[in-house]
Amino acid sequence: MNQARFRHFGEARREEWALIDDRFRDYVADAPRRVLEHLDRLAGDTHGYPVDRHEHCLQTATRALRDGADEEMVVCALLHDIGDDLAPANHAEIAAAILEPFVDPLNAWMIRHHELFQGYHYRHFFGLDPHARERFRDHPAYARTVRFCDDWDQASFDPDYDTLPLEHFVPMVERVLGRAPYGGLPAILEETDSP
Ligand SMILES: [Fe+2]
Repeated sequence: MNQARFRHFGEARREEWALIDDRFRDYVADAPRRVLEHLDRLAGDTHGYPVDRHEHCLQTATRALRDGADEEMVVCALLHDIGDDLAPANHAEIAAAILEPFVDPLNAWMIRHHELFQGYHYRHFFGLDPHARERFRDHPAYARTVRFCDDWDQASFDPDYDTLPLEHFVPMVERVLGRAPYGGLPAILEETDSP
């Protein structure tokens, strides 16, 4: 059997769930490759910016790396705008959701809030409060989020910067997203009773 035959969950047998569980683990293990593949979708249209988002993500990660950030932070920098393609209205949520099972909760918080913090550099052009991030001043991730935005994210629109290629970051992404997710994955039992 290489595929379940049930028409609805009510008739699914344990062997079928065991098969699906097995396949799901392979699917999870392959997720870093799919994430990297999706990053490629950010290449091309600059949407008016000086560089496209693919270059921007690579440049943000390169600056973080050269500033001595740890591997997890570099991966966060590389993926922080990956949601732009699918969710331009709330892109930070996508990156935060991808990273959250594998990184320090403070780094997930940083990515989730980076748009507001980044706004310090442009919100005044839109009649919005550039200091809106100050309401999080007492949050334990405040300082790292400020650093992330001020030193790396907002600075990474330079078409002449010596940006490292994606290949340089692939092993880092594989290591960080290849970690066991917090909370683990449910594992199928040897024997199960009916609910
Ligand atoms: Fe960004």
